[in-house]
Amino acid sequence: MSDNQPRLMEHEYDGIREYDNPTPGWWHMILWGTIVFGIFYTAIYHFSVFTPSIPTRWKAAQLASYGDFGNLDSDQATVLKFSIDEKGVAVGESIFKINCIACHASGGVGGTGPNLTDDHFLNVKVIDDLYEVISNGVVSNGMPAWGNRLSQTERVLLAAYVTQLRGNGSKGKAPEGEIIPAWPEPPAPEPADDAEDTEPVDDAPSE
Ligand code: HEC
Repeated sequence: MSDNQPRLMEHEYDGIREYDNPTPGWWHMILWGTIVFGIFYTAIYHFSVFTPSIPTRWKAAQLASYGDFGNLDSDQATVLKFSIDEKGVAVGESIFKINCIACHASGGVGGTGPNLTDDHFLNVKVIDDLYEVISNGVVSNGMPAWGNRLSQTERVLLAAYVTQLRGNGSKGKAPEGEIIPAWPEPPAPEPADDAEDTEPVDDAPSE
């Protein structure tokens, strides 16, 4: 515009007049641009099959990492078996890191929650109790129940991870509870794959 004088609008109220100062064009461009972008972004980010949400991707990554485990039984034999299984412990540790270290600290050496690396336990006497406590919690004492939040397989792998923590921590929270008997010996590692399969899968499709 050639003249820099602001224009006055026609109307006048009680002697008060108003300059004509419209918001500039670029401002409108940004406003409408963000609205249009927002519509497409919401549609694509939240509803398109090509952009799975973060929880979906996380779940998929989790499944990829322990899909091979299938659905694990929660019995002592399974917990013991995975307590010496490298991949089982690694996955158990990653689940522990996400959900448990806020209270039990990294490596389970204890914080708000008790030290899980010593021989003293408050609610645990045998291996099976680990899965029980993890699943049902000790809610009145501040240990949440994980039965509704984590799958059975995840809780079994956590129990396995906690099993092998015992004896790990020299420096941690002071022991709480009573000394409990040592865990049973873990089973001997399974023979290599080419050995005879001792555990046939019953419901495998017959060919
Ligand atoms: C909000 C804090 C908190 C979180 C998170 C938490 N715990 Fe605990 N946990 C506790 C407390 C407190 C106790 C002790 C309960 C008691 O005094 O009876 C406990 C007890 C336990 C025990 C029994 C220990 C014993 O001495 O009897 C196990 C096993 C355990 N937690 C495992 C886990 C696992 C695995 C996770 C993650 C899935 C987890 N906890 C997450 C607070 C927590």
